[in-house]
Amino acid sequence: MENKTIDTKILTTSDADIEIAAKIIRGGGLAAFPTETVYGLGASAYDADAAKKIYAAKGRPSDNPLIVHVASAKGIEDAAREIPESARVVIERFMPGPITVILKKKDVIPDTVTAGLDTVAVRCPDNETARRLIEKAGVPIAAPSANLSGKPSPTKAEHVINDMNGRIDAIIDGGSCRVGVESTIVDLSSERPVILRPGGVTYEDLKNAGVDVEIDKHILETFDGNEAPKCPGMKYKHYAPNAEVIVVEGEKDAVKRKIKELISENKGKTVGVLTMFDADYDDAVMLAAGATNKEYAKNLFSALRDFDKLGAEIVFAEFCERDAYALAVRNRLYKAAAQRVIHV
Ligand code: TXA
Ligand code: MG
Repeated sequence: MENKTIDTKILTTSDADIEIAAKIIRGGGLAAFPTETVYGLGASAYDADAAKKIYAAKGRPSDNPLIVHVASAKGIEDAAREIPESARVVIERFMPGPITVILKKKDVIPDTVTAGLDTVAVRCPDNETARRLIEKAGVPIAAPSANLSGKPSPTKAEHVINDMNGRIDAIIDGGSCRVGVESTIVDLSSERPVILRPGGVTYEDLKNAGVDVEIDKHILETFDGNEAPKCPGMKYKHYAPNAEVIVVEGEKDAVKRKIKELISENKGKTVGVLTMFDADYDDAVMLAAGATNKEYAKNLFSALRDFDKLGAEIVFAEFCERDAYALAVRNRLYKAAAQRVIHV
């Protein structure tokens, strides 16, 4: 059967529009909404059929679980059956904010949401529109990032419209996302807290708050092999623009020299450069990543989509470690580049 196209409503952040989106979610439909990290594709976290629609709309593998979004730290108890002391510290200190905690799940959360796992990912976003929506919906909202599976996460409503128009019931336009990369995921369901995905709450932030956390060793790798990743999302292809992406990592002068060389080796191709330094390359379309890693995080996904629009066939991404966001940016950049990284 042919895929039926849905008439997707584009909504504002007005009370009346948020009520429309809340009603859609209560009724088992799908509404995309802004958060401080990236846009989410929401459905009632209590509704297994609605969760199935999320996987279908995204083309997402059904073994990759969703994050349950709550309006306040208190709401975590609606999804998790056990909150250990380490989790209390994280919740108290960093929520609302760009962090997700993995906890033992309550039975009310259907297996479709957690892809059959005994744990659930819960997050309280630091975005007023997101929290108003969850409150009005009256249920926790299960939401992955609102992109087609494999594409960069959306950081503007237009990105969601490009990927999801005709596939979901509504999209709330809340402008650009402040952080730009997805939330930090911390597994607090076993003995020692582990960062499964780096994000806006950094390793240093967690350490400084007294959380004895370690970083999963797979964060900067591609997943192959037969080992089961702790975070199912780790093993999937991610953030892939049409262009081939190559990261050139190091200090300014060496990076510039290398990229100039690479550009001349790729004559005849439409070359893009994502720049951290105010570099000037001939024969390339340039987009600014920003001078800090924090700015880079905010700009990265949007830039990857813009390179597609500009028809780039190969993109060289300048990268240099500058601040605590370096791990979050590297993680996304290396995935977008399928681990093609040149250190200079
Ligand atoms: O910032 C964010 O987290 C955004 C916004 C919308 O909140 N959401 C987001 O969702 O990035 P998504 O689905 O793109 O990524 C969720 C990640 C996946 O890698 C998934 O494997 C992992 O969370 N995950 C979900 N539940 C899990 C669980 N119980 N244990 C381990 N990993 C889990
Ligand atoms: Mg995603």
